[in-house]
Formats: sequence, structure tokens, C-alpha cells
Amino acid sequence: MTDTGIENLLQEERLFPPSDEFAAQANAGPELYTEASEDFVAYWRRQALERITWFKEPTEDLDDSNAPFFKWFADGELNISYNCLDRHLDAGGGKVAYHWIGEPGDRRTVTYQQLSDEVNRFANGLRSLGVEKGDRVAIYMGMVPELAVAMLACARIGAPHSVIFGGFSAQSIIDRVQDAEAKLLITADGAWRRGTVVPLKESCDEAMLSTPSIDHCIVYERTKQGVSMTQGRDIWWHDLVADQSTECEPEVMGAEDLLYILYTSGTTAKPKGIMHTTGGYITSAASTHSLVFDVKPESDVYWCAADIGWVTGHTYIVYGPLANHTTSVMYEGTPDYPEKDRLWSIIEEYGVTILYTAPTAIRAFMKWGAEYPERRDLSSLRLLGSVGEPINPEAWMWYHENIGSSNCPIVDTWWQTETGSIMISPLPGVTTTKPGSATKAMPGVSAEIVDQEGNRVSPGGGGFLTITKPWPAMLRSIYGDDERYVSTYWSQYPGRYFAGDGAKIDDDGYLWILGRVDDVMNVSGHRISTMEVESALVSHPAVAESAVVGATDSLTGQAIVAFVTLRGGFEESDGLNDELRKHVAVQIGPIAKPKSIIFTPDLPKTRSGKIMRRLLRDISENRDLGDITTLANADIVANIASQSEAQRKDA
Ligand code: WT7
Repeated sequence: MTDTGIENLLQEERLFPPSDEFAAQANAGPELYTEASEDFVAYWRRQALERITWFKEPTEDLDDSNAPFFKWFADGELNISYNCLDRHLDAGGGKVAYHWIGEPGDRRTVTYQQLSDEVNRFANGLRSLGVEKGDRVAIYMGMVPELAVAMLACARIGAPHSVIFGGFSAQSIIDRVQDAEAKLLITADGAWRRGTVVPLKESCDEAMLSTPSIDHCIVYERTKQGVSMTQGRDIWWHDLVADQSTECEPEVMGAEDLLYILYTSGTTAKPKGIMHTTGGYITSAASTHSLVFDVKPESDVYWCAADIGWVTGHTYIVYGPLANHTTSVMYEGTPDYPEKDRLWSIIEEYGVTILYTAPTAIRAFMKWGAEYPERRDLSSLRLLGSVGEPINPEAWMWYHENIGSSNCPIVDTWWQTETGSIMISPLPGVTTTKPGSATKAMPGVSAEIVDQEGNRVSPGGGGFLTITKPWPAMLRSIYGDDERYVSTYWSQYPGRYFAGDGAKIDDDGYLWILGRVDDVMNVSGHRISTMEVESALVSHPAVAESAVVGATDSLTGQAIVAFVTLRGGFEESDGLNDELRKHVAVQIGPIAKPKSIIFTPDLPKTRSGKIMRRLLRDISENRDLGDITTLANADIVANIASQSEAQRKDA
């Protein structure tokens, strides 16, 4: 390795080439890489013209005259709701857009025609309240079809939406609404989560005491628990649309007009309003959705089991699938309600063929045990996807064997809220996969790993992940803060986009994402990725999940502390503690052997399922934890802190 990079410790040798059958029918072929490497702008132009219906075709491609404020297809005109709805209706209005499953067990089937009617009526309703092109609209809802309706209606009239995840607090609504100066707030009375009602409207009421920019709040009735409605300000969704026509002229949007703002939930700093525009975004959403998931609109039942409140849901539940005329499953609740086989029972019932979920969910399934998927018929599945965090090789293998019956390609897709669409991923039918590797940059995307000085790292080394060329779905800026956009993403390595992730490259040119660089530890001068130590731990049969942090150590600078959750059937003991530490030493080397291991029934996670290593660092260093109410499982923290305290006393 280079002196200024990150150690490359974990070796993974298993290879999974695509089957001939899959390759023969795949949407993607190897020629895409050649085409894109010859002229990446021409490649994206072809995607834009072939996949998108333009009111006015663009004559411009990439405009890099004011980098890093890039533009794509700037003189093109289109409307995204038209691309997701209208153009499918003549031949395919009766086709199902969403099979929706409510957490209590209620079900709805929404066809393209019905979705279009609802979007048009709601868009007319928005216009009747004075919402115009360019006005920002905040949306705070659970996973109901009306959330997609609200987004598409905003897109139809050119009002940028800002979706706020339904698990966030009133304060998060205030921060986001104030930053965007949103004019309107769309919510529901409540949302179902594990059998109880999340009182969405109540949080909005609290927030609206501090959001003078909001004129109206539209409330969709879902849970019927009774909410207070402020006269003149609050309007029921059903009243708003009651007399509206199912025809609403779509606004003609410029390719670079703002489609949405989505705030990245930083754990410390002020959230960044990531801005996505119209033409480039929908081009890449449609293109990557088709190529990475190999979606066949005529036969697939596709399920992205994320929440629409995250970018994954924006691009791969709403915009990409609808642009591609796909039939999707949408589920309101959690995977363990009423039982831990909920996902598998839905797959069995609807014959789901493509499943896209997150490593944190996969590790939870591992912890619960294979008996749950074994109860159900999952034979309809033909492709599996992963996103959100590095997937440890053992979790990858578990997913492959227990969910995919060892015959579904897995696409491990690396991307970010900022990138808008998938950037690094295998192409199913083309790429030979390796468990734990997101493999290679997509056609039209150029990724490079560099050391601290910005020099390219050679195969076998680790460093910092950068993107060297602009891409159509890239963020355009941070809302209201161009300077922060430049300094956060474009200043570490001039001319390159810095993703904030560490990564390594192997001798075959495969990329292995090592997680956020803030999570890299420094042990006796060796820069070690927390992810590699975690993967080594998870490769032990007793371990379901692990989080590793570097805690300040007088001897080694930082010492490795590992928090470990055991699989069902295993008990914690001093013997196992020793065994796990040795296991890491054997798997990746004595330098990475944890100084201590703390067993815990769960790990602290953000609402999107990312492990909060910063918090674990604070615990290990006995620091004040500050506000932890944004965690998905705040109650676990006290438990971990007391165990950690006990260990310190022992030592
Ligand atoms: C960060 C972005 C993009 C949708 C969901 C997350 C991590 C994402 C992978 C992957 C390793 C991954 C990165 C990235 N990440 N996908 N396949 N392998 N790490 O969006 O909340 O903006 O988070 O998630 O650290 O920077 P996000």
C-alpha cells in the first residue's frame, strides 16, 4: 500500500460468473462499456434520447463551462410525470403500477391509469391552492401510494418537492421547511409502524408553529385516529381532490429545472439540501433501473424495499420504475411485523422477481435465522440487489444462498443521495461478481481511487473514492449554499468529485467500498477500515452483525473496539470473546485484532439503517453522548454504554 492510503487487509477469492441463461436475456451487454468509454457524453445522449420522451429534444449535451456547476441537456424540454404516466396510458394504462400492502394487512392495486388520474386531480388541487412552478412543497408521509402521487403531482406542475422521512421529528421538519422556504406541507393523519400509529399530523402541527412560509397543510387520511385541523390552513386530501378534473396540463420543464431537494441527514452538521434537476436525473434513473435490475416491464414484479423518504425510494421506487412502466410492490411497514417472515410472505404472494434491499436488513435476517425465508416459496426471485452500506462477504453469501437459492445474480450498488442514481455496480448477465465488491463503475461513470495527494492508487491498494467525470443525475448544488457544494465535494481533489468514502481496488480492477473515510481507524500508523474488521467478525459463524471503532489509546494512537451482535442460538462468553479476537487476527492479520469486544443485542443505527459509529466512539471514550433522539433504536445506547463501562472497570 501507499503511505497515505488505506490498508488492504481482507482478501475474498470467491467468483460468481453470470449464467448463460441470464446473459442471453439480459438488458445489458458488454458493448455498453466500450461505447461509453469511447465517448461518455454520446453514451448519455443516446440514453436520454432513447429512454425519455422530450417535448423538445435537447441539442446541447454536457455543459462544463462553469464547473463544478455542470449542466446536462440544458435546452431540452420535458415533464417527468408525463414520462412516468401519460406516455404509458394508451397501450398500458391497465397495467399495475403498484401492488400496495398496508402494514395491518390491507391491500390496494393501483394501475397506471388510476395513478395518472390521482396525480392529475391532486396536481389541479395544488394549483387551486396557488402553488406555481418553482414553489417548494414539503412532503411528510408514510409509505402509501399517495406519497408517490404527491411527488408526481409536484413534478407535473413544476413545484420542487422536498420529501422528509416520516420517521423524523418535528425539529427535522422545521429545519428542512425553513431552509427551503416551502410554501405547502403535505402529510397524513398517521402512518402504521409495528402495529402502532406514528402521529404524522401531530408532528406537523408542532413544526408549523415555527414555519411561517407554510400557507397550507394537506392531510391524507390513513390511520383515522383523529387529528386537529386548523381552519383555513389545513385541508383534507379527499376534500381537495373531490371536484378536480383528471386532466391537468403538465408544465413544460427545462432539463435543468429543479425537480427536488432531498436533505442528507448528517449526524452533526446542518443537513444539506441536495438538489436534483429534471432531464439528466430521469435519464439516468430510467437507464440504470433498466440495466442494473434487468427489469422486463412485461413480466417482472419488482420490489425496492426501501422507504421513499430516502433517495433510494425517489429513484428506484418512484421515478425509475414508473419511467420504465414497471409493476412494483410497495409495502408500508417493517419486515418483522406481524412476523419476521413478512418480506418473504409478500414475495410468495405477489411472485416478486426482483428484490432490492439493504445490508442492514440482510444482517437482521441472518440474525433472525434462515427458518423464516425457508417457510415461504421464494422461487419467483431472479435478481437481488443491495444498497446503503458495504455488504460483508458473509452477508452477501447468506443472501445468495438463503434468499436467492444460489441462482440469482446479486447487484451490490454503490451510490449516494448526491449521485442521484447508481454509480458502481455489476451489470447482471455481464459482470462476474465477487462477494463484497460493488465491482466496477457503470458505463458512462468514471471512478478512481486516489491517495491523500490525489495520485491514483494502483491495484492492490486502498484510498479515497473519487468520480472523475460529470454524470447526468449528479447533484447540481446544495440548496442555498453553492460554496458548501464546492467545498464539500470538489475541493479535496481539484477537478474530481470526492465521495467521502474509502475504497480499494484489486488486481482485476474491482472496487471494494470501505465505508466513510471518517470511519477509518489509525492503529500504530496503519490506516484500517472499520468495514474490513467488521467483515472478518461477521465471517465467524456466531456473529450476525458488528460495528468497529477506533478509540483513543495512549499506546497505539487508536485501539480497535468491536461491538458484536450474535446470531440466534449463540451465547456470549469470555471464551467466545477470545475466539473472535483471534479469528480477526487469523482472517486479516494481527494488526487488526480488536483490543476489546463488547457483546450487545443490537447496534445504534440511524433511521436509514446506517450504524452510528461516531456514537460508539463516544461510548468507548466515555464521552457525553449529546442528542440521540434521531436514532432508530435509542434505547440500546444505555445498554451498550453500561457494558462498555463494565469492561473499562475490568481492564
Ligand atoms: C453512502 C451514501 C444511495 C442510496 C442509499 C444511501 C454508503 C451506499 C453502498 C454500497 C458500500 C455504500 C456509502 C455512501 N453506500 N451504497 N453498495 N457499498 N457503501 O444513500 O444516505 O446518501 O448514503 O452510503 O458510504 O457514501 P446515502
